[in-house]
Amino acid sequence: MTRRAGALLATLGVLGCGATGEPSQGATGSDTAPTQTAAPGVGAPGIGDPDFPLDGNGGYDVAHYALRIGYVPARRQLDGEATIRATATQPLSRFNLDLHGFEIGAVSVDGAAATFTREGDELSVTPARPLADGAEFAVRIAYSGKPQPVRGSSNLGTYGFIPTADGAFVTCEPNGAKTWFPANDHPADKATFDFEITVPSGVTALANGELVSRKPAADGGTTFTWRESHPMVTYLATATMGRFTLREGKTAGGIRNLAAVDPRFSDALGDLYKRSGEITDHWTTVFGRYPFSSTGGVVDDFTAGYALENQTKPMYGGFEPDQSIIAHELAHQWFGNSLSIERWEDLWLNEGFATYAEWMWSEHSGGTSAEERFQSAYSRPASDPIWSYPPGDAQPDDLFNESVYIRGGMALHALRKEIGDGTFFKLLKTWAAEHEHGTVTTEQFTALAERLSGKQLDTLFDVWLFKTGRPAV
Ligand code: ARG
Ligand code: ZN
Repeated sequence: MTRRAGALLATLGVLGCGATGEPSQGATGSDTAPTQTAAPGVGAPGIGDPDFPLDGNGGYDVAHYALRIGYVPARRQLDGEATIRATATQPLSRFNLDLHGFEIGAVSVDGAAATFTREGDELSVTPARPLADGAEFAVRIAYSGKPQPVRGSSNLGTYGFIPTADGAFVTCEPNGAKTWFPANDHPADKATFDFEITVPSGVTALANGELVSRKPAADGGTTFTWRESHPMVTYLATATMGRFTLREGKTAGGIRNLAAVDPRFSDALGDLYKRSGEITDHWTTVFGRYPFSSTGGVVDDFTAGYALENQTKPMYGGFEPDQSIIAHELAHQWFGNSLSIERWEDLWLNEGFATYAEWMWSEHSGGTSAEERFQSAYSRPASDPIWSYPPGDAQPDDLFNESVYIRGGMALHALRKEIGDGTFFKLLKTWAAEHEHGTVTTEQFTALAERLSGKQLDTLFDVWLFKTGRPAV
């Protein structure tokens, strides 16, 4: 489900930038490689995000991932079979998927054996017969090995499929889905997911969406089948496994709610369950209807140093979450998950909104007001790094900079003051409703803000999102 990739690639083609033809030997694995345009019939190795030239791929649009995973924590061994249904968006004699590590067994397209080559994290598949533009096809890949998570730079930490003592903690933002399944690994291509996860007995597997079945497996283990029937970006997919204590039910507003905690955090279960339900219900009054089939949260004992808003199941890595971070991750279910970004530079549309949600939750629950939170951030000295990092242009080597969060949130507060509470809250609901399950850009948001307010807001967005220096207020 891509929207923009075609246009971007076409633009690159017209401008003639980037390498042409076949991906050259040894060209991959470098983040600085220009986005390649491909020879006729060859899918590009990147989806067209200039900041992440090899993330995602060109030439097709995924509709559905069916993932069968067997994992043995004691051996850290994963055996996988991925069946990916997609539509070609150009004639394809060859196309790429993203996959990090693993041995590949058989690859087939529409049931016919296909050949493949690998270079870095690019897996190139050549079907027995070329695919026509518009053709629907299914590619099946069997793979196995020990998953290698990404050890990112200091501000990214470790992400992807992270083995733990009793299972795995699986949090993939920004591009770690490829550490456990072959993927079009970029948020511009959303798809639905089925997960069939087999683990040793006593281990629970938690994936997105709803549990379809839980059955004894042939080898004495358990097979958990989960289905996410709403579109989802690859970095929000999870198959977190381990020993978990669960609490299940419904929120007061009638939304299914599942909390799960590692035994080390068993004291946190009741609070996580209750808060997640209460906050989800509250956000429906502010952002509009809940976009997915359930809410909840998972606390595992891996010290990630971050949380991730995995669709329907936010994950907290090795800490008991407070109300503020629960409010943040649940706000992402609307902003980031239902409305996902088409390119990483627009990350403030996720993080600025989720940070502002923390401020709104604080205001709602009788704590510090959003205005006080804004003023406290605004009083940071002129030398503070948030004033030299424009949050509207998130940098690939420092995506999760504090500015994307805090100055992004401040931009929304400045907007609220400019257009008034009535229009501002109507804007939040309209934004979430008009783009439910879609992909979005900053330009779409600023255009909607101008349309609803009837005001010219160029300067406001410019100084808060795109210029260096502390904006005057
Ligand atoms: N989106 C997450 C949050 O704001 C942060 C994810 C950071 N990812 C990472 N690899 N450190 O809660
Ligand atoms: Zn966030």
